[in-house]
Amino acid sequence: MTAREALREAARRIPPRDAALLVDQALGMGPHGVYREPQRALDAHARRWLARAVAARARGVPLAYLRGWREFHGHVFRVSPRVLVPRPESEHLVEAALAWIDAGIEVTVAELGVGSGAVLASILRMRPRARGIGSDVDPGALAVARRNFRALGLAGRVTLLAGDLTAPLVARGLRVPLLIMNPPYVPTAALAADPLLAPEPRVALDGGVDGLDFYRRLRREAPRVVRPGGHLVVELGDGQRPQVQAILGELGPVRVSRDLAGVERVMVVEIGHAL
Ligand SMILES: C[S@@+](CC[C@H](N)C(=O)[O-])C[C@H]1O[C@@H](n2cnc3c(N)ncnc32)[C@H](O)[C@@H]1O
Repeated sequence: MTAREALREAARRIPPRDAALLVDQALGMGPHGVYREPQRALDAHARRWLARAVAARARGVPLAYLRGWREFHGHVFRVSPRVLVPRPESEHLVEAALAWIDAGIEVTVAELGVGSGAVLASILRMRPRARGIGSDVDPGALAVARRNFRALGLAGRVTLLAGDLTAPLVARGLRVPLLIMNPPYVPTAALAADPLLAPEPRVALDGGVDGLDFYRRLRREAPRVVRPGGHLVVELGDGQRPQVQAILGELGPVRVSRDLAGVERVMVVEIGHAL
């Protein structure tokens, strides 16, 4: 079977663009490989892999899990079903954090819920003098993050800690000037009703009944790990800005910025000195 024939067959079950990307992956070819070398033959192994991947894609498994990687902020990150697939809108979280890190200064940035590591790694790549602390409740996610930091040459600048929200930092007496998080923020019922989200880890998405559990926890816990006068930078779900501002506004002045789609996506909170 040639690449062109494989593409035609796959495109009967899934969208043509997805089919082309999976054929490229099956053949170990770069982007558009199937169009550049349509006569390339698939061996038995590639055919088996492709058949399984097409069936999984038809069931709604994200392309990133099938290919094993996703591009984010100009870098390639390994992903597995243990981590959330990094979303384009989270690049805005990266940009918001970068605005608070002076390029020439040695500074430590902590990310809670580091997942694949895409957000923290993108920040560290842009700020060569910064160091990172990444924590996650799921050791499986940390294993993925570790591989990504290593692949990007960042292993020596990052400490990865397993544990519940701020607990691993508190246990080590760590305080940082910049704390970031893209928390699970999907309301539980919305998560259950959305089959597109089913393949991704529930622990990465479920924000409790109203989706705001983690913002409430951050209100209580962030002052324990952010230095007075430091900043907390969080991603917001679509439409959550008023509620999150009511919660985190108790910590200090907030600023909100919009993503490219115009959604109020990132909130920066200055942690007050009196807390
Ligand atoms: C929305 S995902 C963000 C992943 C990654 N930072 C990104 O932006 O692509 C939330 C992450 O928080 C982690 N998480 C969930 N509950 C947690 C908790 N109680 N303590 C620490 N991390 C938690 C999940 O495992 C997941 O990796």
